[in-house]
Amino acid sequence: MIDVRGLARTFQAAHGEVNAVRGVDFTVGEGEIVGFLGPNGAGKTTTLRMLTTLLRPTAGTATVAGHDLLADPVGVRRRIGYVAQGGGANPAEVVANELMLQARLYGLSKDRARTRIEDLAGRLGLDGLESRLVGSLSGGQRRRLDIALGLVHQPPLIFLDEPSTGLDPTSRNNLWQHIRGLRDELGATVFLSTHYLDEADALCDRILIMDRGTILVEDSPQELKGRVSGDAVTLEVAEAGVGDATAVVEALPSARSVTVGGNTIRFRTEHSSRTMVDIMRALEARAVETVSLQVDRPTLDDVFLTLTGQPAEEARAATPSTV
Ligand SMILES: Nc1ncnc2c1ncn2[C@@H]1O[C@H](COP(=O)(O)OP(=O)(O)O)[C@@H](O)[C@H]1O
Ligand SMILES: [Mg+2]
Repeated sequence: MIDVRGLARTFQAAHGEVNAVRGVDFTVGEGEIVGFLGPNGAGKTTTLRMLTTLLRPTAGTATVAGHDLLADPVGVRRRIGYVAQGGGANPAEVVANELMLQARLYGLSKDRARTRIEDLAGRLGLDGLESRLVGSLSGGQRRRLDIALGLVHQPPLIFLDEPSTGLDPTSRNNLWQHIRGLRDELGATVFLSTHYLDEADALCDRILIMDRGTILVEDSPQELKGRVSGDAVTLEVAEAGVGDATAVVEALPSARSVTVGGNTIRFRTEHSSRTMVDIMRALEARAVETVSLQVDRPTLDDVFLTLTGQPAEEARAATPSTV
C-alpha cells in the first residue's frame, strides 16, 4: 500500500540546514496498521506530509495507494485520507456542515454525502453531535470528527498524525477502538504517528521507530518490548556512601547497565522487588544512608536508550513540535 524509497527532506532554517528526514525506506502492506514512533522533532510529520503530497521531497520517492507520489500526486490524494496533527476542522462551524462541506469538496452528491456522513457519524460515535459547534466538542469528540473528515471519501489508506495527543485516557481508549475498526470493519490500511509507546503497542501491527530523521528499527510491538527488558532502578544515597552503594549494586548478579552520577546510581534489573530487598539489606549492613530508591517500568526513553545507547534528549522531547 505504501512503498517508500530514499525519501528525504531538508529545510532551510535561520541557523542553517535542517535534515528533517534523511532518506528513509519502508513498506506498508494492505490492511496493516503501522505506526511511526518517535519523539518530537523526529521527522514524523514531515514524512507524513510528503506521503500525503503536501510537501515535496528533497530526494527519493514513494508509491502510495498505487500511485507514484511525484508523477501522480492527484491520484495519490484521491485515494488517501489525512488527519493532521491538531486537526483542521473550523471551530466556528456546525459539525454537520463541516462534514457536508468536506464530502462536497471530494465531489460526492448531496444524497451520497448524507448517507456517508450518517454512516461515519454512527461508526465514530458522533451521533447526536451534528448540530453542535465544532468549537464546543470535547477533545475526544473533536479528534473523531477530524477522522470522519479524513474518511468522507472512503479512502483505502488513511494517515493519522499523533491522533491521541492531548486526550484523556478514556478518550484515547475509545479512539483506539475506532481506529482498529477502520481496519477491521472497513478494511482500511492505517499509517499513524505517535510519541506514545503504549499507543503504538495497543494499535500497531508493526512499528517503525524514528529519531533524528532516520528509522532506527522496524518491528512488531512484542519484539520491540522484548528488546527492553527489566525495570530501571534509581538509587540516591548520602554522599559519603556513594562508593559503598556502587559496590553493593555492582555485586548484584541481576544488575545491568550500572551508571553513577553524583549521589545517584542507576541500573536495570529483571527481578526488581527481590533486588530491592537485597539492596536495602546490604546498604544497612554497610551503614549507607539511603535518600531514595525508585523503580520504573520500561518507557519510550528506555527503548531509545537500548537502541541507540543514548537517551532521547529530554529537552527535545519536551519541545512542542514546530509543525
Ligand atoms: N517548515 C519547516 N522549516 C524548518 N524546519 C522544519 C520545518 N518543519 C519541520 N522542521 C524541522 O524538522 C524536524 C522534524 O520535524 P517534524 O517532522 O515536525 O517532527 P515530528 O513530527 O516527529 O515531531 C524538526 O527539527 C523540525 O524543527
Ligand atoms: Mg509531528
